[in-house]
Amino acid sequence: MRVVVVGTGHVGLLTAATLASLDHDVVGLDEDEEKIGQLEHGVTPFYEPGLLDLMEDGSSSGHLRFEVEPAGAVPKADILFICVGTPARASGEANLASVERSARSLARHLSGPVVVVEKSTVPAGTADRLWNVLRRERQDLVDEIEVVSNPEFLREGQGVEDSLRPSRILVGARSVRGFEAMRRLYEPLTSEGIRLIETDIATAELAKHACNAFLALKVSYANALARLCERAGADVTAVADVMGSDPRIGRAYLDAGLGYGGYCFPKDLQAFERLAARLGYDFPLIREVARINDEAVHATVEKVKDALWNLEDKRVALLGLSFKPRTDDVRFSPALALARRLLDEGATVVGYDPEAGANAKSEVPDLGVAASAYDAIDGAHCMVVCTEWDEFRLLELERAKGLLAHPIVVDARNLFDPADMRARGFVYYGMGRAVEHGGL
Ligand code: UGA
Repeated sequence: MRVVVVGTGHVGLLTAATLASLDHDVVGLDEDEEKIGQLEHGVTPFYEPGLLDLMEDGSSSGHLRFEVEPAGAVPKADILFICVGTPARASGEANLASVERSARSLARHLSGPVVVVEKSTVPAGTADRLWNVLRRERQDLVDEIEVVSNPEFLREGQGVEDSLRPSRILVGARSVRGFEAMRRLYEPLTSEGIRLIETDIATAELAKHACNAFLALKVSYANALARLCERAGADVTAVADVMGSDPRIGRAYLDAGLGYGGYCFPKDLQAFERLAARLGYDFPLIREVARINDEAVHATVEKVKDALWNLEDKRVALLGLSFKPRTDDVRFSPALALARRLLDEGATVVGYDPEAGANAKSEVPDLGVAASAYDAIDGAHCMVVCTEWDEFRLLELERAKGLLAHPIVVDARNLFDPADMRARGFVYYGMGRAVEHGGL
């Protein structure tokens, strides 16, 4: 099929590259000329394992191209994906101005039957708005335009895997024509056993927010348990294992630590809560999830202070600055929230991240960024593990201990074994694990 993907951010690029790998003819559109120029030369604006290979395959097979102007590809497209950003307004509501703008600009170039797919995460009711805009712009094509919701469930850092082997594909449509187009588009995946779930449009839109909010709720539940375990002398990882052994609960997203971040959970949770309020339903559970998440950073600051007493004249090393491993994304990263809090308390903060150092530095200019974990640790009074990159699991602990001014580790992602760390002579603080006060 001939596909146009509008917006070349995370979701847009992965959608374009994946559909090209399924032998569709895909054009990625973006008004940012510089970005398109870079994409044409195989440069992506962010780090995503495996994406470059997928893009290279797409351009060498001729299935994937990038353009700035919609006039060439849009009139010929069978399917148009809208993958533009939906940032948060000050109120927490999703700002849908880019979605509307894209729809208007695309509408001008439509020439015949087309399915417009809303893939950006949007509040329930957006497809109706989209449909109104398209209909008003092109009254001549009212019977030819179909609007479909096809929310994305991919995780950053595992985006390629999640796109090629998704847990499910969700399609919300209002007519057989919409469903049929999407069945054809995803046939290469459904023929391999991937499930395609068909619903009405509002259900698909709401289900996307419901999934992200529920996953965030699990993380906050684990973090609230961590606070309780610390007080009760229990171990939150073992509690999560017990809970996870019940298939009705599942182990995923029960890792306590520094909390969730990124451009999806914090923003989507707010937007979901705002949508509920607009629809006349108070949803305090969602607000509580966000509050518990903030508590995780606060609890970590308290551990650092417990270990180091006063933070003035102290150097703290942060291992990991991205919001999670395998990405250079620092948006709403709890590691940076922690860095800001420690800097406010007067500490010198030096961080290291395998991919996100430069992004972190531009977000928090007062943060020192080291070239390696050992450089960050060298002379630090305490080291805090903020992101569970594999590289940190392989840290030479004896060398780290020798470099630290004090052998104090705050393991905010429960990466290390507490007994092993203590046997090696570290003063070890975990999250939701029995606390040992042995600092300064
Ligand atoms: C999330 C969802 O998982 C995707 O399904 C969804 O498509 C995406 O948002 C989106 O809406 O675009 P992502 O933001 O890439 O994906 O990140 P996750 O891997 O889900 O992790 C989110 C945060 O939760 C991270 O900060 C991670 O460190 C944290 N987390 C996760 C925990 O603190 N504990 C856990 O047990 C699991």
